[in-house]
Amino acid sequence: MKDNDNVRLIINKTKYLIIGVGGLIACGLFVSTLMLNIDSPLICSFAGSRNDPANAQLETVLHYATSRMVPQQTKEEIKLSYDVLRKRAPCNFLVFGLGLDSQMWNAFNPGGKTIFLEEDPKWLQNVLQEAPFLRGEYIKYRTQLTEADELLNSYKFEPDCDPSKGIPLKQNEKCKLALNMLPDEVYETEWDLIMIDAPKGYFAEAPGRMAAIYSAAVMARNRKGPGGTHVYLHDVDRKIEKTYAEEFLCRKNLVKGEGRLWHFLIPSAVNTPAAKSKSFC
Ligand SMILES: C[S@@+](CC[C@H](N)C(=O)[O-])C[C@H]1O[C@@H](n2cnc3c(N)ncnc32)[C@H](O)[C@@H]1O
Repeated sequence: MKDNDNVRLIINKTKYLIIGVGGLIACGLFVSTLMLNIDSPLICSFAGSRNDPANAQLETVLHYATSRMVPQQTKEEIKLSYDVLRKRAPCNFLVFGLGLDSQMWNAFNPGGKTIFLEEDPKWLQNVLQEAPFLRGEYIKYRTQLTEADELLNSYKFEPDCDPSKGIPLKQNEKCKLALNMLPDEVYETEWDLIMIDAPKGYFAEAPGRMAAIYSAAVMARNRKGPGGTHVYLHDVDRKIEKTYAEEFLCRKNLVKGEGRLWHFLIPSAVNTPAAKSKSFC
């Protein structure tokens, strides 16, 4: 009986020893595979892949820590969208224009969707080369700054610009203020925040921000999800930005102004009496 107990004890000990040594070898092999194969998808999930928000955050810190070029918006202006993003991120953030601020906007929305719409293909390529984790799309505008006054006076007589008709931006050929050439994903996404700091609007042949403002207003009115759309417009010291903001984004929706930036919270018009109104405000 005693001998049998001893034999059983030895067998059990040997079993645990084999399991223990086997486990150690397996762990060692696993770790060395990770260390040797730095490009493996497995290590990416630990160390942060290109599209991983943590990777973008680190690249962004490195970028701003080693650059003398800073975004054009002041800290007080930036804080208006920063405060909302701190509450709503991860969310859907649409930004008109790529600039020195792009990595910053992207980093403020970790794990969310941030898409930049850029008019200048060369500049788009340059920025994406330096920051491939950003999502930038080329956008071709159909307007010119010189047309701003005429478009503002005539859009009310163009039925396809009438917000009560519910014409999707995508199919809208006749209303020149409608951005009808965006990637499908932009139409299919409900945007929580829209930042309008482009296209260029400071020389006659520039596209101007008229279509960006009109289209942001249409997107916000058509929102089906809860909450409104936060729309930020920069350069409101300029006549066209200011006039178009008052026409399409509306004084009553203005939350705050800081420096040259206005912040609007646009309520959805879906299933409300506003949906039948021909006026935006
Ligand atoms: C008013 S800027 C937006 C600037 C942005 N808020 C910033 O802080 O950099 C609008 C447009 O100018 C152009 N742009 C901005 N920065 C540029 C740069 N460093 N070089 C060339 N073009 C630039 C892009 O076409 C962009 O969409």
